Order: sequence, then structure tokens, then C-alpha cells
Amino acid sequence: MENTTEPEFEKISEQASEASSKASLDNNEEQKVTAFEVEAGETGVDYDRLIDQFGCDRIEARHLEKIEQLTGQKPHRFLRRNIFFSHRSLDWCLKSFETGRGFYLYTGRGPSSSSLHVGHAVPFIFTKYMQEAFDLPLVIQLTDDEKFFHKQVLTFENVYKMGYENIKDIIAFGFDPEKTFIFSDIDYIKYLYPNVCKMQKALTLNNVKGVFGFNDSDNAGKYSFPAIQAAPSFSNTFPHIFGKKKNVPCLIPQAIDQDPYFRMTRDIAKKLKYEKPGCIQSKFFPAITGLSGKMSASLAHTTIYLSDDPSQIKNKINKHAKSGGGDTLKEHREKGANLEVDIPYQYLTFFLEDDDELARIAEEYSSGRMLTGEIKEICAKVITDFITEYQERRSKVTDEDVKAFTAIRPIDPKSSKMPPKPDKTMEEAKK
Ligand code: TRP
Repeated sequence: MENTTEPEFEKISEQASEASSKASLDNNEEQKVTAFEVEAGETGVDYDRLIDQFGCDRIEARHLEKIEQLTGQKPHRFLRRNIFFSHRSLDWCLKSFETGRGFYLYTGRGPSSSSLHVGHAVPFIFTKYMQEAFDLPLVIQLTDDEKFFHKQVLTFENVYKMGYENIKDIIAFGFDPEKTFIFSDIDYIKYLYPNVCKMQKALTLNNVKGVFGFNDSDNAGKYSFPAIQAAPSFSNTFPHIFGKKKNVPCLIPQAIDQDPYFRMTRDIAKKLKYEKPGCIQSKFFPAITGLSGKMSASLAHTTIYLSDDPSQIKNKINKHAKSGGGDTLKEHREKGANLEVDIPYQYLTFFLEDDDELARIAEEYSSGRMLTGEIKEICAKVITDFITEYQERRSKVTDEDVKAFTAIRPIDPKSSKMPPKPDKTMEEAKK
């Protein structure tokens, strides 16, 4: 019989799944990455260390080659530049595609603000690329409930409303209306609920505490929520797309801070005899003020919103972007810039498409020939171009579009780019 479940090799114990990866770095700086906060020293998050602590795997050259082979196009710049750098079971998902079994994509957003910022855009840009390159069905979860439980000040009505606005922002990334289902937990809960219950029964309070670090004064909603983020990882949560099939593999593009949710999900999937979801994980989009944090929606003057105009973008970068350039012109010309900590350069690695141009800028700036003012200008232009294009699409999104994307309707789960399934599984399909 064909092996339709990924072979087992990982072992996650309660202790090992401690998500609050709090580690003292050698230089005495602390880094803390949880599903709820990111803190690091001046040189930023040590991602190598994070991969080891979380127990994920590195994305390697062979993955890029495989993706290029399967999609027939150059892998996205986020892959080429190691911005999506970590994974779980990516090989399994790609193999599933290659052998005609396929997989689907799942991502999400917690609506904690009514406008998205550039950092929020990263997983959506990537998911849109994956959907297009592989021609895959995609489900997008709005965890309005999660934000209600986690943000004291937000009311129930408020999170739902912000979620609705966020759906428009998400549609504007250009997802395929034929292949994308967007849902709010509050609206879709009836369909999530069977898997939520199964999950909740299989999880102990100790499991949830171990993974998320909650204590006894945290509200009960926080404890019950992780099962809700887990449920879309299983294809039978979407009967209008997959029918009764519970074993269509799922790949979840995400920033690496979401790993605790899916580490937990994978652990419980085994108990429920479900396919474990795969993950493909990005680094954080750094704050303007430096690498020690990710961009956060709560600090308005140092956050670049997708609704900002060109002069706001320019101002924020000019005034607040942490520079890796020399302190004086003389020093800069002599020593050049430190690209690692230079925010304008780091932003270009996310948004400048042209690899040769990026290499040229790196060379010019690190040698001190290019000045901080110049790279800031290039950075502002590249980000403005992205945001202007985005805003054009956003202005065209209507309430009708929201209705279309959120409608519970049949969606073809197959990919036109997938090689046909080998014969031996044809019998199964007939059943
Ligand atoms: N918890 C995520 C947030 O706060 C939202 C989310 C739900 C998500 N499901 C996801 C993110 C799947 C990535 C992948 O934003």
C-alpha cells in the first residue's frame, strides 16, 4: 500500500515544546520569542538558535531547486534571500504535490488593528506567490476571537469589525477568488467546532501551559483558543472544499512566532490520526528603530502602514531608520556601513526584487561609497512603489468582494500544475 502519511521521526515532549524560547545569549543579551512577543539584542533575533530551540528545519538549496522544478519559475525573493528560512515537513508537502496528491495552503491574521503595516504584508505576499506558483487552494483564518481574549481593551464587536476591514486588506494582496476561502472564527465556528472539540479533548491544561506559558490568572479563552487556530490545518474542517477528506496535506506560511501553535497541532494530530500540517516560516520584519524588535502596530510614528502616503513613508525612514553607517562622513568613507544592522538595507532585502541591484547597493554602501542618505532614499522609493501599487488594488476592493471570498462554496482542491496521480491510487479515487 502507498504510504499516505508522513513517516514519524520527531518526538515532542511537554517540556521540549516550551514555546517561551527564552535564552540567555552568550553575550548576556536575552532573546525572547513567543506567539505574543519578540525581544532580542541589538543584533536582532538569533534565528539559528531559534530553529534549534523550536526544533524546526532549515530551508536549504535543495528545497529551492525542488520548488523551481515543480513551479517552473524562479523561487520568490523571500526564498532566495533566506527570509523564509525554516520549515516543518516541507519536503513531505512538495513530495505530495509531485506525486499528484497535492496540498493546500493555510494562513491567518489576528485583527488587532484596523490597518495592516508592511510587516504584516510579508506572509501574505509569500502566500500569494505560493498560491500562484503552485495553483493551490488557500484558506485564510481571521482570529478575531484570539485578539478578543488577548487584548484587554478590545471589545467583541470591535475585533469582529476590524477583522472585516482586514479581510479587504488581505484580498488586496491579489489572492485568486476562485481558490481562496477567507473566514472569521466568529462566523465559521460551526465548521471548525468538530475538530476544535477533538483537539480540546486531546490537550491537557499542562500541554497548553507548557507551549504558551500561560498562568492561572490568564482567562480561560486563552487556554481554549489554540485548538481553534489548529483546526484549519485539517482538511475536513472545509467540507465545501475537500468533502470528507481528512488527510489532504496542509502547508502553513507564517512568521516563525506562530510555530508554538503548530508544534502543538502536529503533536496532537498524531493522536487524532490526522496528517500533520507542514510549516514554512519567515524571519520578522524589523522595526524601523532597529533589529531588537519586530514592527509593531502600536507605535504609530515608527510603523509604516499600508495606508501611509509617500511623504509619511519618507519621513519615517529618514527620521527613525536605524543606520549601520558611520557616525561621521569621514568614518563612513573609511569603514563603510554595517549592513547587518542597517534598517534601510534590511528593508531592501525584503522589497527590492532585482538581485543584481541589491548586490550593487550592498557593495557600494558597505564600502562607504554610498551614503546613509542615499540608501534611505532608495529604500523609501522601493517601499513607496510597493505600497502605492497595493493601495491601487485596495481601493478597488468592495463589500461584494468580501462576500465572494467569504462565501462557503465549492472550491476545486486540485492544482492545474500538479502532475497526474500515478495509477495505483486511481482505485482509491473511484471509491
Ligand atoms: N495568530 C495569528 C496572529 O495573531 C493569526 C493566525 C491564525 C495565523 N492562523 C494562522 C498566522 C496561520 C499564520 C498562520 O496574527
